[in-house]
Amino acid sequence: MNEQSRFDTRCVHAGQAPDLLSGAVMTPVYFTSTYLQEGLGQHKGYEYARTRNPTRDAVQGNLAALEGAQHGVAFASGLAATQAILELLDGGDHLILGNNVYGGTYRLVDKIMQRFGLTYTQVDTSDLAALAAALKPSTKLVMLETPTNPMLGLSDIAGVRKALDAAGFKGVLAVDNTFATPFNQQPLSLGADLVFHSTTKYLNGHSDSIGGVVVTSRQDLADKLFFIQNAAGAILSPMDSFLVMRGTKTLHLRMERHNQSALRIARWLEARTDIPKVYYPFLESHPQHALAKAQMRGGSGIVSFDTGDAERTRRMASAFKVFALAESLGGVESLVCHPVSMTHGSVPAADRAKLGLTDSLLRLSVGVEDVEDLIADLEQALKA
Ligand SMILES: Cc1ncc(COP(=O)(O)O)c(C=O)c1O
Repeated sequence: MNEQSRFDTRCVHAGQAPDLLSGAVMTPVYFTSTYLQEGLGQHKGYEYARTRNPTRDAVQGNLAALEGAQHGVAFASGLAATQAILELLDGGDHLILGNNVYGGTYRLVDKIMQRFGLTYTQVDTSDLAALAAALKPSTKLVMLETPTNPMLGLSDIAGVRKALDAAGFKGVLAVDNTFATPFNQQPLSLGADLVFHSTTKYLNGHSDSIGGVVVTSRQDLADKLFFIQNAAGAILSPMDSFLVMRGTKTLHLRMERHNQSALRIARWLEARTDIPKVYYPFLESHPQHALAKAQMRGGSGIVSFDTGDAERTRRMASAFKVFALAESLGGVESLVCHPVSMTHGSVPAADRAKLGLTDSLLRLSVGVEDVEDLIADLEQALKA
């Protein structure tokens, strides 16, 4: 493993070296809160485990390498990672938020950070003119999500960077890359300053851990984020660090299958006459299909579709046998979610209506089971 190693090799090895003490090939889980010091100020770089932990160091190095970043800073959840980015700002600063960001991101900004003096504007970040028009002298952060959850709209990351530079923006461009993963999309190479993730989703990939990470190659931002990680204390635990690292060892294999199966299912749904609307970036009918192909390697595993009938959607949601009706996404097992009643309840109804986030929408997280079994399950649930 070296700087030139390709993505698949980085998935398996980056950030991890055999344990010096035992030769263990897998990074040990360091369950310790503190470290022996040989004398005052004499230690091996580890003093207290909120500040540093070797298992967390390893996963941070791994996740940074996957995004082509120099630094990774891991947090207790995706929202704790988002909160750390918001803590880079001061009271009175303004931020711009995509108009279809994850409901929890919106809730954090609107219900908590606003109380501490941050102001925000939500815009459609796929509209570069609208984005530029929303900039104020006090705007210090632009936070976007692409693809969005659950409507799978895209923003042109390189285009956003160009528009911000042209407008003289000197703040930070942060991209939530949870849906695409670094396998499908590398926002730092397209001009983002920060990339963040809910590692809970594809990076862990097995639905057995909650976590988050922020990665960057900017030393000034990394210094501030490590300070916030230690000072605010929302760290990723040693066990969760291990679980995320075990997940990323197969990220490339899983994402290949998620991409393939989701596209197959999206095409199958689109071919049906009883499903009026299917959302998936790699469908030719997606309004930003050209951007998807230019910016992403594959469309990832999320497919949303609208049956056009809220009652039918409700019946269907309870009829699946392989897809589990559950929140979250990105695991090896397939899940189905009704965004209006499950993940996006905190988004005001008027805003949901504008986005097309209707009562009859379902979101699939297509797992790595046999795709024919998944299609058979969809078929029987549609008959319900
Ligand atoms: C796109 C996106 N970002 C951030 C989060 C928040 O992550 P967590 O649930 O790990 O706090 C989620 C959770 O669903 C998400 O879907």
